[in-house]
Amino acid sequence: MGKILGIESTCDETAIAIVEDGKRILSNVTSLQIDIHAPFGGVVPELAARRHVELLRPTFEKALSQANISPKDIEAIAVAHGPGLLGPLLVGMNFAKALSLSWGIPLIGINHIEAHLYSAMMTPEFDEHVHLPALGLVLSGGHTSLVEIEKVGSYKLIGQTRDDAIGEAFDKVAKLLGLAYPGGPEVEKKALKGDAAKYPFKAPRIKDAPNDFSFSGLKTSVLHAVKELNGSIDEGSIRDICASFQRAAFDSIEEKIQSLSQQKRFKSLLFGGGVTMNQELRRRIQSLDLKIPEFFPPKDLCLDNAAMIAGLAFHKLSDPLSTLTLDSSPSVRMPFNS
Ligand code: KG4
Ligand code: ZN
Repeated sequence: MGKILGIESTCDETAIAIVEDGKRILSNVTSLQIDIHAPFGGVVPELAARRHVELLRPTFEKALSQANISPKDIEAIAVAHGPGLLGPLLVGMNFAKALSLSWGIPLIGINHIEAHLYSAMMTPEFDEHVHLPALGLVLSGGHTSLVEIEKVGSYKLIGQTRDDAIGEAFDKVAKLLGLAYPGGPEVEKKALKGDAAKYPFKAPRIKDAPNDFSFSGLKTSVLHAVKELNGSIDEGSIRDICASFQRAAFDSIEEKIQSLSQQKRFKSLLFGGGVTMNQELRRRIQSLDLKIPEFFPPKDLCLDNAAMIAGLAFHKLSDPLSTLTLDSSPSVRMPFNS
C-alpha cells in the first residue's frame, strides 16, 4: 500500500518515479532532452512537448521494471500540473489521465514548486514532527521563493524574486560568456578557479521588501563587465566573472537566511530546486553555523524529477482539492500553495 507513480513534464525533463509512503523511492527515472535544446541555448517549448511524447512511454516502462512491482500495487497516479510550459504540461497530464483511467485509480495534481520544497523532506534524517515549522527556500530555474512551511501542504510566501529567478540568472550569465547550456553547472565549474573578489558585483536589496530578491541587475553588471573587456575575454576573465557573480548571488541568499533563521518559530531550514546542486552554495550555508539544522535534497532530487511529485502526493491522497479529473487543465502560472 501507499505506492504512487509520479509524472514530471513541466519543462525539459521527462521523469517517472514510484515512491512508497512519501519517502521510499522504488524507482526514479529521468530522461534528459539537453541535446535538442542546447543548440538554442535554452528550452524550446514546442520541441520539449514533442520529445515528452516520445520519451514518456520508455521512461514509464523503465520506472515500472526498476521498481519491480505490478501495476496492481500502485494506489494512485500523481502528475505535476503546474507551473510550467503549456505543451509539456499537456503531454504529461494526458499520459497521467490515461493511466488513471485504464488502471481505475485516483489522479492527484501536484504543484511543481511545492514538490521541490518537499524533496528536502525526503532525506532519512528529516522528521516532520521535529523539524517543522521550517523556513523553505526554492532556488530553481523558474523560481526564487522564501516560504514559511507550517506543515506539508500549509505555506506562507514571505519573499520572492522581483525579476529573474536565480537559476535563470546563472543560465543568462553563462550564455553571455559563451558557456554551454544549461549554464548553472558551467558557471560553478569556472568559478572554482576564479577570483570572487575581482568584480564588485552585488544583487540589490529591495528597500520596502527585505525578503524579496532581484537578480536582473546583477546579470546586467556582468554584461557591462563583458563589454568593457572589448571582445578580448580570456579564460581567466571568464573564471573571475563567474566566481564574482556566484559570490554576489549567494550573498543575497545568505543575507536573508542569516536574519530569518534567527526567528524562533523555525525549527529547520529546507532547500529545493536545481541551484541546490551547487557545492559552493552548500558549503556557504553549512559554514554559517546556524542554530537550526539545514536540509538539502539528496543529489538525485535536486533537479526536476518525478520522485518529489510521487512523494508529495502521498500527503495529498485524501485532499479533495488535489484530485484531478479528465477535464482538468494544466495551470501554467500556478500560484504557490494551490
Ligand atoms: O529545479 P530545476 O531543475 O528546474 C526548474 O524548476 O527551474 O532547476 C534548473 C536550474 C537551471 O537554471 C540550472 O542552471 C540551475 O538549476 N542549476 C545550477 C546548478 N545546476 C543546475 N545552478 C547553479 N549551480 C549548479 N551547479
Ligand atoms: Zn523544477
